[in-house]
Amino acid sequence: NHNPKTSIVLFGATGDLAKRKLYPSIYNLYITGKLSEQFVVIGIARRPWDDQTLRDNVRKAIEEAHLPTDNIEQFCNHFFYLPFDVTDTKSYQRLNQRLQELETEFHIPGNRIYYMAMAPEFFGTIAIQLKNEGVTQSDGWNRLVIEKPFGHDLPSAQKLNNEIREAFTEDQIYRIDHYLGKEMVQNIEVIRFANAIFEPLWNNRHISNIQITSSEVLGVEDRGGYYETSGALRDMVQNHLLQMVLLLSMDPPIRLATDEVRSEKIKVLRAVRSISSEEADDYFIRGQYDAGTIQDHQVPGYRSEKNVNPESKTETFVSGKLMIDNHRWAGVPFYVRTGKRMAQKSTKIVVQFKDLPLNVYTQKNEKQDSSIHPNLLVIHIQPDEGITLILNGKKIGLLGETIPVKLDYSHTSVDGVNTPEAYERLIYDCMLGDATNFAHWDEVNLSWALIDPISEAWSDSNKDIAKYEAGTMGPIESERLLEKDGFKWWPLE
Ligand code: BG6
Repeated sequence: NHNPKTSIVLFGATGDLAKRKLYPSIYNLYITGKLSEQFVVIGIARRPWDDQTLRDNVRKAIEEAHLPTDNIEQFCNHFFYLPFDVTDTKSYQRLNQRLQELETEFHIPGNRIYYMAMAPEFFGTIAIQLKNEGVTQSDGWNRLVIEKPFGHDLPSAQKLNNEIREAFTEDQIYRIDHYLGKEMVQNIEVIRFANAIFEPLWNNRHISNIQITSSEVLGVEDRGGYYETSGALRDMVQNHLLQMVLLLSMDPPIRLATDEVRSEKIKVLRAVRSISSEEADDYFIRGQYDAGTIQDHQVPGYRSEKNVNPESKTETFVSGKLMIDNHRWAGVPFYVRTGKRMAQKSTKIVVQFKDLPLNVYTQKNEKQDSSIHPNLLVIHIQPDEGITLILNGKKIGLLGETIPVKLDYSHTSVDGVNTPEAYERLIYDCMLGDATNFAHWDEVNLSWALIDPISEAWSDSNKDIAKYEAGTMGPIESERLLEKDGFKWWPLE
């Protein structure tokens, strides 16, 4: 059944995520015929809106996303609003009643998605109340979608998980990591497992290191309050970057079924070397942006941003090294790096292959620097999407000299940056009951266990945090991390 008949109960309907991502995504699903007319969205938040206010806002969100608006009237008729107090049982009873009425009107067989797109402190309470008030006892299926952050460290993630597990089983829970909805992140598996020329080389005999960068130009914007308690390690590394490491490093699943893919990811995550607080500085470095110039604009430093402590030690940049202690990867560093206010918005993976055991071209040349360039496979996640393979070719005319040759395959993505497409795919997957591109609890659990000692080391440290000028690729320590191992960050161009 590719036209799921579903009610979506959207907690946080007046919020930013709903406006920027969720409404445009649901609309796209609608206009591409994936939703049929048998769906409703019940928007939930504290504000005393009514159906019309919600519909006006949905319309505005779709206009702002520059989507074609021909079907917008018809689409908006599927939206309903319920002012809600998450701590009041009556709210849940009203919700249940409203759902039943609308399910009858729209011929929806009791399938319900509860989408948590609001302040995370309420996720647990809401889940438990939904169960206690009988909302989850409908005739159809019930699924819970949880936005990040899933906890703040291991104990808080465990607590949240225990709460939601009181009301939902693991296979009813869809933990969002929107990177898993990105076209080229999903393509990592295809590149690896559908090409005879890569998989045989995908190991420590042929790969020297892998570099994953997700850089942003924006600063913390209006999220200073949240970001102060989070920082780049929790905000980006624990989830998005680690997920990319897993997709790059897992063994081929025996089938593309959810359980098979998840169990390979979990298996490799268990092989990621844990880093103690004492060792944190050997593997991870952090930085914080100072004032600087980006694209001809003068921007303030992190400590002068709204809702940020003027003496804040929160990291806005992280660079780190992960080692995977298994047969396939022993000895191959996976470098990750992410930050705000960097030189460009870009997510890229560079796979660097080992040098040839004997390089006849270097030997022939007097100038050692005009020698062979290592083979690189670059996976462009965003804003451009595609792959580049860097090979060596003969330099025209001159004897025995080589130049790097680029084989490029790319297509321009729809709008590049955090597009609704990722959410569109994930929402649709959830409607179809496919949890492959969502994080299993074991993944979340193990990734916090990996990250916590590093955040603890940093919060206990008296050292001042390294600064980097806005508009650069982070502090010098990030270069040193690779230099220590005889490598360098490949430029993103
Ligand atoms: C979010 C983080 O999960 O990912 C943000 O909370 C970050 O701080 C964003 O800006 C980056 O996503 P994308 O899709 O733009 O790379």
